[in-house]
Amino acid sequence: MGAAKRRYNKTLTCRGEPLLLTQRKRMDQDPTPAAGFRQGLTNYGDPGFSTFLRTAFIKGAGYTDDSLARPVVGIINTGSGYSPCHGNMPGLTGAVSRGIMLAGGLPVEFPTISIGEIFAHPTSMYLRNLMAMDTEEMIRAQPMDAVVLIGGCDKTVPAQLMGAASAGVPAIQLVTGSMLTGAHRGQRVGACTDCRRFWAEHRAGAIDDAEIDRVGDHLVASVGTCSVMGTASTMACVAEALGMMVPGGASPPAVTADRLRVAERTGTAAVAMIAKKLTPEKILTVHAIENALRVLLAIGGSANAIIHLTAIAGRLGIAIDLDAVDAMSRETPVLVDLKPSGQHYMEDFHRAGGLTTVLRELRPLLHLDALTVTGRTLGEELDAAAPAFPQDIIRPRERPIYAEGGIAVLRGNLAPGGALIKQSAASPELLEHEGRAVVFENAEDLARRLDDPALEVGRDDILVLKRIGPVGAPGMPEAGLIPIPKQLARQGVKDMVRISDGRMSGTALGTIVVHVTPEAAVGGPLAVVRTGDRIRLSVARRSLALLVPEAEIARRTAELPVAAAVAGERGYRKLFLQSVTQADRGCDFDFLRAVEMKQTAPARPSGEARG
Ligand code: FES
Repeated sequence: MGAAKRRYNKTLTCRGEPLLLTQRKRMDQDPTPAAGFRQGLTNYGDPGFSTFLRTAFIKGAGYTDDSLARPVVGIINTGSGYSPCHGNMPGLTGAVSRGIMLAGGLPVEFPTISIGEIFAHPTSMYLRNLMAMDTEEMIRAQPMDAVVLIGGCDKTVPAQLMGAASAGVPAIQLVTGSMLTGAHRGQRVGACTDCRRFWAEHRAGAIDDAEIDRVGDHLVASVGTCSVMGTASTMACVAEALGMMVPGGASPPAVTADRLRVAERTGTAAVAMIAKKLTPEKILTVHAIENALRVLLAIGGSANAIIHLTAIAGRLGIAIDLDAVDAMSRETPVLVDLKPSGQHYMEDFHRAGGLTTVLRELRPLLHLDALTVTGRTLGEELDAAAPAFPQDIIRPRERPIYAEGGIAVLRGNLAPGGALIKQSAASPELLEHEGRAVVFENAEDLARRLDDPALEVGRDDILVLKRIGPVGAPGMPEAGLIPIPKQLARQGVKDMVRISDGRMSGTALGTIVVHVTPEAAVGGPLAVVRTGDRIRLSVARRSLALLVPEAEIARRTAELPVAAAVAGERGYRKLFLQSVTQADRGCDFDFLRAVEMKQTAPARPSGEARG
């Protein structure tokens, strides 16, 4: 044995054991599961050499034997110049590292793909699964005993939870936190419900070019995620409700001391998860998924979260039953008075106690036995939480801001696989509506004709946009908020029923039916709708009906062109088009979902007391 190898053997230990075992034979036969840097060895056909080489290289980065003997906690750094939503990443990784070291662990940062919602072409959703694959494979490929997932912007948190669920290593979610609000001419503003409101006023001619530029100076007042209950804030709350985040972790704004303290607690908790072997499948149970759905409905959260939760649950063999979600929605009022369903912003939500206040209100409807990353149950965490205090942002269940859950599930001959409407952000007078369809065949057709003065459209018509679904666009862009045609906007029309197979931003409001499944591009009934057809929306009856005789629908369906082939495509786009599933399966790639769906959430009739 050479001198270098002897020295190495003598000093390097992990949890009191030699890290490089003195005999290669012993390493091969060691029944102890490998930990720290010993696990997941690079394959050179000689495990001893692999360990020796790995240690030599990590020492090249200046690590001591003491450092290398500690449990390793990976920290996924998704900082990117293309994502101001993640602009506080350096401070967060520093605080997480501090928490890990205080608990005796060794933090190791590594990058994955980052997706900035506003900077991703053609749409961030096209890349969510790529980020999920990156997350899963980098967790699996690199030696770590636990991992801290730092995300924030819309698709990053679902991608990380999907990847971590599949990787099976103890994982804990941290979010970057919401941005601050700003002010325009004395009026409080925040991204991005106000972005859309001001832009609609600009389209209607009420705001000129100079003023819309000034508005743009103040909508995004700091780094962080959108300041309303959009998809990012929703997924932060969902992650906490799932038990994948330290209690109180969803709401602190990005640039606050509270956010940094959450980051430190996250690092400390990650180390504790190692000894408890708290892998995601122990936390992401049917009960946890149901709790998250309940919270999603009560916060007036983004409809996008239904797709993301379906994808996360699907990784662990749990199917989401949309009809059961709708039944849950009928008995879960919206409690949170935040835009777009209400009036306030995430800063206000945090000052009102954040998700803990919501969970306390929902307590009789929650599964309190669900395990969290702390190793304690949701019920135990609620028992330990600070007492409630007077505030008016998160309402009691007896005085909600909307009587039902924020999201309703629609069915009918236009959406046999389901469609969603965010009823809490819709115009009440349009929730029961029959109108003439004005159809746009795809996004290009919409851009070409929407503002054409020759477009025949009235305020009672229903705007229909096809081929913006998972395959159609591709990537299911947030184009479901079809703008009001200028000729109507200038007459003061602010809302119309709009229907598409795409998504809409969680920050948007209006009577918008999205996620029509199956989508037009794969031959769903939406494909056969023509301008002049009548459509009836009844949210009370949860129905979306194309009022065209079934025989005529069948005739039109038979005339549809054969779905586009992927011949001529290459790379990720080919993989995406071949593998993406419809919205009711979370738009995950078919080969990434669990092989078998063994359970369903919600699991049982809702409304009864939970234990
Ligand atoms: Fe990143 Fe809204 S654009 S959270």
